[in-house]
Amino acid sequence: MLKRTFSLAWKIPKWSFELASWGKSFKNNPIIGNYWLNLLGLHVFRVVVAHALFRFRLVLLSPLVPLDYRKEFIKNGYILKKNFLSEEQFLRLAKELNQFEGPVREIIEGTTVTQRIFMDYKERKRAPEFNALVENKLLDRLMRYCSSKNRPPLFYIENLCNHENVNPRPDPQRDLHADTFHPCVKGWLYIDETDNSNGAYVYVPGSHSLSWKRLKWEYKESLEACKKGADREPGRYWDGSFRVSREDLSKMEYQVEKLSVPANTLVIGNVYGFHCRGEAVQKSKRMTVWMQARDNPFNPLFTPFPKVTARAFEGIWKKALERLDQGKINSGEQRNFYGSLSRPDDKEAADKP
Ligand SMILES: [Fe+2]
Repeated sequence: MLKRTFSLAWKIPKWSFELASWGKSFKNNPIIGNYWLNLLGLHVFRVVVAHALFRFRLVLLSPLVPLDYRKEFIKNGYILKKNFLSEEQFLRLAKELNQFEGPVREIIEGTTVTQRIFMDYKERKRAPEFNALVENKLLDRLMRYCSSKNRPPLFYIENLCNHENVNPRPDPQRDLHADTFHPCVKGWLYIDETDNSNGAYVYVPGSHSLSWKRLKWEYKESLEACKKGADREPGRYWDGSFRVSREDLSKMEYQVEKLSVPANTLVIGNVYGFHCRGEAVQKSKRMTVWMQARDNPFNPLFTPFPKVTARAFEGIWKKALERLDQGKINSGEQRNFYGSLSRPDDKEAADKP
């Protein structure tokens, strides 16, 4: 009894903090996942307030980015820029990343093996071309604006190895979904071109905006997500990254778009908009510089010190990743090693259409 009281005394402030910040799990947080509170509109209230504050911060940060980019981001939910770097700079960067050795985290999702190297400032010291990209003024300003937080993102090298896992399990990344309940961005600079062979990024333009139909869908999903025990579907669905069916997409009048792009294309997407990893029809690889910027959606302000804040976030995130490692390694979902990323072998290159 005493133990339970202590446990609750610690958990209630934690759950409350999550509720007032980026917490999204209906499963792990009984306030966020409370059926009666959601019947009264708790989830929808969080969605609306988070979106209003996001738009407010975007207005304040608008001097950072030219009007064309802002219009594209607000209208479609993503920015796509081909030939982002000069040809010479891109070739130097691609060469560096193909040869780079570092601490790799390898995760299994479905038949895909995802390899990532977290490129914090220490790793970047050994990668001058990568560092030059991080210092790129346009990229810096776009990410600071689109995240609405004025903070440079966390940087990774990401390498997808399609059809690498021979014991497939469900791949949550292949279903159309919103990452969370609030706007936040991810970015990709494509080192490989993308097409059906290696799984192009799929996005639903306009699905990042709130409409009446979308709010009704959010309400319905929030009640579904409160279901418990055997009523709850297995998998990641209920953790707050809602999956959307093709039927619901057409009810909301959305069209799905596949972003097959050449190498050296930059994509920055608001991942509240529906998106997924496209199907890869053959064994293949897809390397990107991957960027992620997620922050407290209910803080109406942003940092006035982008670089210092980014450095602090890198430090905190590195520690968090190290904490998460052991559980994932024990469950067989992840392995860590030091080395280079797997790149296409001769046969894969020859099979490419
Ligand atoms: Fe996602």
